[in-house]
Amino acid sequence: MRQFDVIILGAGAAGLMAAIAAGRRGRRVLVLDHAPEAGRKILISGGGRCNFTNIHTAPDRFFSENRRFCASALAGFSPRDFLAMVEAHRIAWHEKTLGQLFCDGPARAIVAMLLAECAAAGVEIRTLCTITEVGGGPDFRLDTSAGPFAAGSLILATGGLSIPKLGATGFAHDLAARFGLRIVAPRPALVPFVLEGEERARATPLAGVSQPVVAACGRARFREAMLFTHRGLSGPAILQVSTAWREGMTVGIDLLPDQGPDFLLRRKREAPKSALRTLLGGVMPQRMADAFMPAALPPGPVAAIADRALLDLGARLKSWRIVPAGTEGYVKAEVTAGGVDTAGLSQRTLAATGVPGLFVVGEAVDVTGWLGGYNFQWAWASGWAAGSAA
Ligand code: FDA
Repeated sequence: MRQFDVIILGAGAAGLMAAIAAGRRGRRVLVLDHAPEAGRKILISGGGRCNFTNIHTAPDRFFSENRRFCASALAGFSPRDFLAMVEAHRIAWHEKTLGQLFCDGPARAIVAMLLAECAAAGVEIRTLCTITEVGGGPDFRLDTSAGPFAAGSLILATGGLSIPKLGATGFAHDLAARFGLRIVAPRPALVPFVLEGEERARATPLAGVSQPVVAACGRARFREAMLFTHRGLSGPAILQVSTAWREGMTVGIDLLPDQGPDFLLRRKREAPKSALRTLLGGVMPQRMADAFMPAALPPGPVAAIADRALLDLGARLKSWRIVPAGTEGYVKAEVTAGGVDTAGLSQRTLAATGVPGLFVVGEAVDVTGWLGGYNFQWAWASGWAAGSAA
């Protein structure tokens, strides 16, 4: 039985950062992962360029049953702190939009940086390692395909359920539950919507068409692009509201956020001879305009259409209401919302308050960021917090 100070389960973003923090403190650290290599989600993130943080990181950019929980860890390891590491490793980066920082080159540079920092901190990493049993606490004992290990601190960093083909499992949730921690029901998030019936029939022929919109669900509201797909809706605005969505909820979409509801009336005064189809085609892709044109309105000059009908159409385009039949699920979800309830964790260290020596970090915790680098920032910050205390 090999003894360590800290064993970390999961060599993803949060686990590697926790290992760096603990290793730098002189702790003997072992990281175990069942995948063939560390940081596989980092490699495919941000379209292969890894959107590694967001400079607008703040607690209000995160969903959780306790939305203030993430504040302490985020303050302890900021986007600037991660950027300092990136720059120390001479990784070129750029700001794309909305504060999103990306690598100029392949995301592999970020994984290489984390592995180099782990090596410098004396961290041992074992991939292709199956964890068969975890027992004890505060002295944790693990049976694994690489043999038995023991440690005084155990950090759960095996992430959520998104993208099973990359090795995602519910391991952290199951193990945390076994240790008596409550689990907030996990659900796919940052995920496309599936539509059925009339709305599906409207969306399918528009697959590939994109439009800037404001999408809203509950109190969440995002102004970004929406994309029609063969099965429903996607694009950043939709992915963002999907985190707030629950089965049966209505999503409101303003298809013309830059226009007032009376815009067609104004256009009618300016260009009375234009066809309605042409006027709509000026503010959205023509295919989309055709799909949203009411069949009952005459195809001729807009002057022939009653003001009331134009006002109604304007209002409808500004509040398209859909009830998604569902989402594309974990196969397409960028993250898993829900997870280990923050009520059982210290917000400063991510330690389980009822289980001495146990920590839970990253996506496994009920903290889910907006699209745009926020989820990695949570992984870095929560990993750092736990690694600094374990
Ligand atoms: P993560 O999933 O990274 O790591 C968990 C590790 O645990 C994995 O290495 C896994 O193999 C291992 N593991 C799981 N079960 C195990 C078991 N039973 N035994 C042993 N090991 C086990 N975010 C962002 O901020 N910017 C971006 O650009 C993107 N882009 C992006 C693209 C795509 C396609 C996806 C799917 C996701 C993103 N994300 C993102 C989200 C981001 O990848 C995610 O939030 C973090 O990787 C979460 O880090 P964790 O370390 O918590 O889990």
